[in-house]
Parts: sequence; structure tokens; C-alpha cells
Amino acid sequence: MSDASALVLENIVVAFGALKAVDNVSIAVRSGERHAIIGPNGAGKTTLFNAITGVTPPTAGRVVFQGQDITRRSVQGRARMGISRTFQITNLFPSLTVDENMQLAVRGNGDGKFSMFGAAELNAGQAERASAALSISRLDTRGAVIVSELSYGEQRQLEMAMALVAQPKLLLLDEPAAGLSPAERIIVAEIIRSLSHDLTMVLIEHDMELVLNLVERVTCLNNGQMLAEGTPNEIRSNQLVQDVYLGKAR
Ligand SMILES: Nc1ncnc2c1ncn2[C@@H]1O[C@H](COP(=O)(O)OP(=O)(O)O)[C@@H](O)[C@H]1O
Ligand SMILES: [Mg+2]
Repeated sequence: MSDASALVLENIVVAFGALKAVDNVSIAVRSGERHAIIGPNGAGKTTLFNAITGVTPPTAGRVVFQGQDITRRSVQGRARMGISRTFQITNLFPSLTVDENMQLAVRGNGDGKFSMFGAAELNAGQAERASAALSISRLDTRGAVIVSELSYGEQRQLEMAMALVAQPKLLLLDEPAAGLSPAERIIVAEIIRSLSHDLTMVLIEHDMELVLNLVERVTCLNNGQMLAEGTPNEIRSNQLVQDVYLGKAR
């Protein structure tokens, strides 16, 4: 393990009964790196994210974040250390405004609770963080809009804003462009590209061409196992990836 690694996954196994959804996966992500996890549906990508965030602790193996073993730490404990994620399925409050969703996100990240009630005004620092995250996510003019009136693409952007508001050190994006139109995908890709390189990022994405232009390294999973790891160019030309991933995905 190198000192420059922000996140090290060592021989991670996540078993659901007899099924090993993640089967002996080891990945080291350098600080500031953008790393993609690709692979066909059911490959174990989201389950691997859940092992990193603590939602589903691994059955075996270790998760090391910034040199600390966090394998058994709580979801909130990991969030406090700077791990933030978005979900494959949108996870917003549709009847609230963009600003209200952001207020919930700011508070949720502050103390590990996610309360709708007893809401005081955000303090100046919180308001500043919320507005910075909305601006990065290109929603700065949409604060007063009810979420259900946003386009689907804008909803995905809001999810990114809600993940960014904690000013995470590690951002996990689970299929941020899933279900988006080509134009919406371009916006999401531009937002991802514009994020600070202080941020370490792991990105799950089904669209190979989108993801390979955004990251420095790629791990391809299949049936829970590591099929290949390398640079985008190496992954593009990898025969196993072409057979297993592209063959199934297209
Ligand atoms: N909570 C769970 N209980 C049982 N099986 C699960 C659970 N979550 C995921 N799986 C199974 O684990 C495998 C990997 O799923 P997932 O990580 O969602 O794949 P991906 O995100 O790559 O599409 C699939 O076979 C899925 O059905
Ligand atoms: Mg998934």
C-alpha cells in the first residue's frame, strides 16, 4: 500500500448467503485520482460501494481510508471522515424545493441525523457550502424550484450537490448519468470534470465512452470478480473486457 493511497480495498468479499456479490476485490485509489468501476449489471459494483460506505460491511477483507482501517466503522463515522456518495436511484424529497433538499443535506452531514423538523436557519458557513455545491452542480438559479419539477438530469445534478455539500475527501458516484439524455450526460460529465482534484473520486458507470474520458484508472468487475484493471486505453483494448462487458452491455 502506497502512502499516497486515499482508499485501499484489500481482498473484499461481500456474500449474500451463497452468492459472493463481491469476490476478492483489491483496489488502491491514489489521493486525487478519478477511478471508474465498470462491468455488466449484477457485477457487484453497487455492493462494492456499500462496502466502502459501510451500508453492507464486507464479509471478508479490509477497507482502509487515509491510512485508517474503517472496515467496521459505521456509515455515519465514515461520512464524518469525508466519504460521500450518490445513489443509482434518485434519493431526493420530491415535494420539497432544491434549497430545502440542500438544507436537509447540510444538516444530515453535520451530525449524522437527517431530520425534517426543528429546522433552524442554516448558519453562514452552512449556507455558503450549500450555495457553492449548487453552483458546482449548475443549479444555482434553481433553488426555489420544487424537485418534482426539475428535469431528471437536474435531479441527478442535485444529488451530486447534496453529496458535495459535506465537502467530502472521497466522492462515490453510482451511475450519475444513468437514464439521462445525451445532452444531460454532457452536463454531468462537465460537472464531474470540473470538480477539484483535491477530491478523490470513484465512479460507477455503465456508459464506457463517458467514463473512460473522465478517469485515470478503471477496474472492470464481472460476477463479483476483478476482470481487468488499467488505464482507459488499456481497458478499451482489453479483450476480456470487450468480450464480457461490451458483449453483454451493448
Ligand atoms: N441485499 C442483497 N441481498 C441479496 N443479493 C444482493 C443484494 N444486493 C445485491 N445483491 C446481488 O448481488 C449481485 C451484485 O449486485 P449489484 O452490486 O447491485 O450489481 P451492479 O451494481 O454491478 O449492477 C447481484 O446478483 C444482486 O442480485
Ligand atoms: Mg449498481
